[in-house]
Amino acid sequence: MLYILDTADLAAIKHCNEFYPLAGVTTNPSIISKEGGDFWALVKEIRKIIGKDKMLHVQTVQTTAEKMVEEAKLLKKELGGDFYVKIPIGEEGLKATMELKKLGIGVTMTAIFTPAQALIAAKAGASFVAPYVNRLDNIIGDGTEVVAQIVEQLENYNLDCQVLAASFKNAEQVHKCALYGCHTVTVSADILKNIISHPMTDAAIAGFEKDWAGAYGDKTILDM
Ligand code: G3P
Repeated sequence: MLYILDTADLAAIKHCNEFYPLAGVTTNPSIISKEGGDFWALVKEIRKIIGKDKMLHVQTVQTTAEKMVEEAKLLKKELGGDFYVKIPIGEEGLKATMELKKLGIGVTMTAIFTPAQALIAAKAGASFVAPYVNRLDNIIGDGTEVVAQIVEQLENYNLDCQVLAASFKNAEQVHKCALYGCHTVTVSADILKNIISHPMTDAAIAGFEKDWAGAYGDKTILDM
């Protein structure tokens, strides 16, 4: 399973890109708006931090297929590298996805809430489908079960499309997605930190440090 960071916060991107096995960054209009300022400067800085080889997903703000394709081409030209345009599911979005498939521009079909939406997005040629896990959990929709069903459908029909699960509130939702064979998750920096944290781990490390210091003081293996 790949881990992506769901933010446009440059400090968080720099930190997580250095300390975690990050596969890229996802954004959406809400995430971009939270940072504000110059759009192109922001997304180009994200590309600079993560490099050309990691995925960058940026969402179109257009509402017609024609304009979505035009905006996707511009985003791809300006941002280059491993780029995906995010397009919300809908008739215009599906039409744009089919055209972008022919042009070789990857699409992440987003705002997915049902396996049926995901299946038709995959058939239209989306490279990724992005179900919103926590927003489903908020309405007792069982977001991780929806992820499991989407994974199963894509495998049953041998479709060249991956699940990029989004909208997480906690590490347990991410863990369940991993158990269900989800290909990719996009999460906050806080959730990444929660995934690696455990009080028993802290206690184990404290024990190692205490025992070592008792025998060797301040010396490390580098001083031996
Ligand atoms: O990528 C979509 C995701 O950012 C939505 O998350 O937390 O707004 O439900 P949230």
